[in-house]
Amino acid sequence: MESCYRYSAAALAWLCVFSILVVFFASAQFNSFVNFSASKLESPKPKPTLELQRIVSTPDKIRAVSFSGSTDHQHLYRPKNTTVIRKRKKPNREQVLEQGLARARASIRSAATARNVTVTLEKDDYVPVGDVYRNPSAFYQSYVEMERRFKVYVYTEGELPIVHDGPCKEIYTIEGRFIHEMEHGAKRFRTNDPRHALVYFMPFSVAWMVKYIYKPLSYNVTPLKQFVSDYVKVVSTKYPFWNRTHGADHFMLACHDWGPHASQGNSLLYTNSIRVLCNANTSEGFNPQKDVSLPEIRLNGGFLSPKLLQPPLPNASRPHLSFFAGGLHGPIRPFLLQHWKGRDDEMQVFEYLPKDKDYYSYMLQSKFCLCPSGYEVASPRIVEAIYSECVPVILSERYVLPFSDVLRWEAFSVQVQATEIPRLKEILLGIPEEKYRKLQEGVRAVRRHFMLNQPSKRFDMFHMILHSIWLRRINARLG
Ligand SMILES: *[C@@H]1O[C@H](CO)[C@@H](O)[C@H](O)[C@H]1NC(C)=O
Ligand SMILES: *[C@@H]1O[C@H](CO)[C@@H](O)[C@H](O)[C@H]1NC(C)=O
Ligand SMILES: *[C@@H]1O[C@H](CO)[C@@H](O)[C@H](O)[C@H]1NC(C)=O
Ligand SMILES: *[C@@H]1O[C@H](CO)[C@@H](O)[C@H](O)[C@H]1NC(C)=O
Ligand SMILES: *[C@@H]1O[C@H](CO)[C@@H](O)[C@H](O)[C@H]1NC(C)=O
Repeated sequence: MESCYRYSAAALAWLCVFSILVVFFASAQFNSFVNFSASKLESPKPKPTLELQRIVSTPDKIRAVSFSGSTDHQHLYRPKNTTVIRKRKKPNREQVLEQGLARARASIRSAATARNVTVTLEKDDYVPVGDVYRNPSAFYQSYVEMERRFKVYVYTEGELPIVHDGPCKEIYTIEGRFIHEMEHGAKRFRTNDPRHALVYFMPFSVAWMVKYIYKPLSYNVTPLKQFVSDYVKVVSTKYPFWNRTHGADHFMLACHDWGPHASQGNSLLYTNSIRVLCNANTSEGFNPQKDVSLPEIRLNGGFLSPKLLQPPLPNASRPHLSFFAGGLHGPIRPFLLQHWKGRDDEMQVFEYLPKDKDYYSYMLQSKFCLCPSGYEVASPRIVEAIYSECVPVILSERYVLPFSDVLRWEAFSVQVQATEIPRLKEILLGIPEEKYRKLQEGVRAVRRHFMLNQPSKRFDMFHMILHSIWLRRINARLG
């Protein structure tokens, strides 16, 4: 109720300001500014995501790149003729940032059209080429623009263990590794001055929430939601940034299955903010327009198996057609195990791998690695398969694959519908040898994008995640 009251007070104040301003300048351009403010007044409720995203982003459309912003709202953020409103005033900091983004979009757009990579940096260590990319030149340009302009402000609020830390081993590794890289590495992408930031990071860990504030076996996620709600309340009261965009330029990151649940703790976070999630299940509210799919990676004891550190030799023999080992989690695996467990020598499908067998050796000796979803859509097997150069077979429904704005998954993986599981062997045998070679080359080509390095390296997993966030912020899609 309190906020309603405040709102109407603010509304009155605005109305006064308007009446005065309207009398002074009755120009057409100025009217558009009025409309914006008026519409803001009339709708105290949060606007739908896309509109908010547009407020955050600037005018330009990236046609070739297919930018989903709309020109109708150009005037929202930056009135067309600022001189009408403020006589010859220097553009403010936000306007300068947005103008920079407009230039970035323009350069990405022309790179997308040219479809050739123009190397702009002198000694570039990597230039994307080949058909694993949707549009290598647009990606390259976008990446370079990100390096040039992207600045993240990491909120300092919150305390250990739940904030500023996360797991750095086992299945939710990426939560901790990303938070630490953001806070202590990646200096180039951080700013300590929130006024210079393009996005704002709330560095809490949902895995640690589950560890420290969830009551085991209660299946009650209320404490997680409460934590997130409180966190947003703190930063939105202390700083002006959350309210400025209704959270649309803020992001959270979670690999835990309950990341989406926790994000419901604040409805603006859920609908407007960039949620970077392993559980990228479109049936559970994952919105590919504004959310980011996060790869799941398992580091046993915090380390990648030495077997996966180096790329396998291209001529390594792969006697098994396919391989899977894992528990009966979620909706798809029971079906897979029922059909293939212990049925066929070419289909090495296990529930639990016998103690004398080695998981990664199997991956290295198989042509295809089956990656069915478990309790959540993501699976660490996808990344492990990529390390092993074993072509991933994605058995998942309503899963938005990581980095799919940039990567063409069909160039290095096979997707099979769950209903086709009985025909799985037939489908895999039906892939011609030449096609298989191409897929495997594709896997080799994307490996760098899935490596977690310490310290991080250009184009590795950390940077790809950051790049996905950047694309959401500039509201561009690399078609
Ligand atoms: C902006 O408005 C001023 C004053 O009305 C006018 O002189 C100027 O030409 C306008 N500029 C543009 C770009 O429309
Ligand atoms: C890339 O495209 C630009 C613009 O179309 C052209 O000027 C340039 O020569 C091209 N570069 C290569 C290497 O094809
Ligand atoms: C942001 O809005 C909320 C709710 O309307 C309000 O409580 C808070 O004080 C505002 N924050 C700032 C910094 O003004
Ligand atoms: C694979 O190639 C490497 C050199 O590229 C060679 O040393 C090795 O013997 C080859 N292995 C097989 C199984 O052919
Ligand atoms: C995705 O979400 C739907 C709806 O909640 C659920 O039925 C399905 O099991 C989820 N998929 C996985 C793999 O968790």
